[in-house]
Amino acid sequence: MDPQGMSDKEWHHVMDAMEEVGPYYERVNWLITFGMVDKWRKRVAAYAKPEDVVLEIGSGPGNFTRHLRSKTIFAIEPSSDLSGISKGILDPERVTFLKGVGEMIPLADSSVDKVFCVFSFRDFFDRKAGAEEMIRVLRNGGEVFIVDMAKPPSGPLAKMLEFHVKHMVPPLTRVAVPSVVRERWTRDPYRTLVDTYEAYGSTRVYEDLLRRSGFDDVSTEYLGLNGATMTRGSKPWKSMC
Ligand SMILES: C[S@@+](CC[C@H](N)C(=O)[O-])C[C@H]1O[C@@H](n2cnc3c(N)ncnc32)[C@H](O)[C@@H]1O
Repeated sequence: MDPQGMSDKEWHHVMDAMEEVGPYYERVNWLITFGMVDKWRKRVAAYAKPEDVVLEIGSGPGNFTRHLRSKTIFAIEPSSDLSGISKGILDPERVTFLKGVGEMIPLADSSVDKVFCVFSFRDFFDRKAGAEEMIRVLRNGGEVFIVDMAKPPSGPLAKMLEFHVKHMVPPLTRVAVPSVVRERWTRDPYRTLVDTYEAYGSTRVYEDLLRRSGFDDVSTEYLGLNGATMTRGSKPWKSMC
């Protein structure tokens, strides 16, 4: 794994870990973010207006999707197990599920107003291809929002967050997941989360990638308690002349 993505084998390993955690996913998220995870999601979801056509990439069990108030939402997810969890809780009138990956989005060019990638960009096997697909499907002036666990370039906050992910997350997982389930694991799936966190570089890597893919006005802000970041960018308006 590296900041650009991962091999096919590594990606399948990440997907196996995600599916293994599936039923306990939100409980663990709540614990490891000290209850902040849904506050972050709500804040980011508020950028989608009711009239926007929205694409969420890596919707998993639908924990972000359910906060979107848009009337037209496409939710892409490679795992049927994970999207299956979300089906009962989301409004089928507004949400269309698409099985697939962010590197190959099954939507037409310039067809959506906002793209959201919430705690999922880190899991892409090819982030450059993913960013290029995002700009392709966005309308001119449309926006992308990438949310991930905070990874500042360096300094005390970076050290503190790294310590949290490496040394606090695995034991907290053990509190959230029943021992009978953990006993079935051949390897703690949250070790895989640590691996993807270590591999993805820093928020600067995401910003550079968006700029190189053609996005303008690229910036990153911290979400509450500085535990997550939102990197955003806009697809430029085409010159009228
Ligand atoms: C950590 S979960 C995030 C779920 C949800 N967005 C949330 O807010 O909790 C990451 C999701 O990304 C999905 N994913 C992994 N690789 C992907 C890819 N290449 N393209 C799209 N989604 C992917 C995983 O299956 C998983 O459901």
